[in-house]
Amino acid sequence: PLVSMTDMLNKALKGKYAVGQYNINNLEWTHAILEAAEEEKSPVILGVSEGAARYMGGFNTVVKMVQGLMEDLKITVPVAIHLDHGSSVEKCKEAIDAGFTSVMIDDSHSPIDKNIETTKAVVEYAHSKGVSVEAEVGMVGGQEDDVIGEVMYAKLEDCVRIVKETGIDTLAPALGSVHGPYKGEPNLGFKEMEEICNSVSVPLVLHGGTGIPLHDIKKAISLGTSKINVNTENQISFTKVVREVLAEKTEAYDPRVFLKPGREAIKQTVIGKIREFGSNNQA
Ligand code: G3H
Ligand code: ZN
Repeated sequence: PLVSMTDMLNKALKGKYAVGQYNINNLEWTHAILEAAEEEKSPVILGVSEGAARYMGGFNTVVKMVQGLMEDLKITVPVAIHLDHGSSVEKCKEAIDAGFTSVMIDDSHSPIDKNIETTKAVVEYAHSKGVSVEAEVGMVGGQEDDVIGEVMYAKLEDCVRIVKETGIDTLAPALGSVHGPYKGEPNLGFKEMEEICNSVSVPLVLHGGTGIPLHDIKKAISLGTSKINVNTENQISFTKVVREVLAEKTEAYDPRVFLKPGREAIKQTVIGKIREFGSNNQA
């Protein structure tokens, strides 16, 4: 069923595992991720950036595509459609009105008072419709579509305030993570993560999941991280396989010849992540 993130993340926090947010770009991505989650009996979050939604046609197309696939593929595990890095109250409302079951409002580049005010407005609207809300404090580095950031660590007092004053369901405290590949090993602020986890009641989110080694994933989960976002890793797996197939089958022109292996590569990558995060057999 299509659900918000609230129950899945609170269960994950208690059960000491994390639910993956896997970003989608098109039908193949969505198909692959849903199949992986169903096979692994895992709850799953489909992340949709504003750029990806634009690419697919718009929020309505996204929701109807997900609903169609869930019906045709007979998906029984909990699925959330989540706006990733929502840029404004208006965009979040638009996604919610189209049927998204969860939104992230990312006003992390603004001063904390403004971030809290924006987040509060989103929570008010979202909660009236049963939709969950994620907010970000500090800044994730690197680039994802239109979202470009310098690494800035979240301050503990800002985390405490935003959770208390807005009623968000989950918080993404930026602690050194980066969108896209890392240069060398990531250097995540685990001490800060522990302090934040001990001071707020909500499950935490880790952005920039691509390239984080398993021992860091496990540590983050043990310190209250219940949602991990993965985007780039699936893009790399898909593109690698598609390149190989196209290089080998130079006469091929039916797109399914390369899209199907690409889709399978995403599915296998997601199955690997689900097992790393421990969300298998939790649906
Ligand atoms: O919001 C999406 C994620 O934070 C994805 O990060 O592309 O580094 O896996 P990633
Ligand atoms: Zn992110």
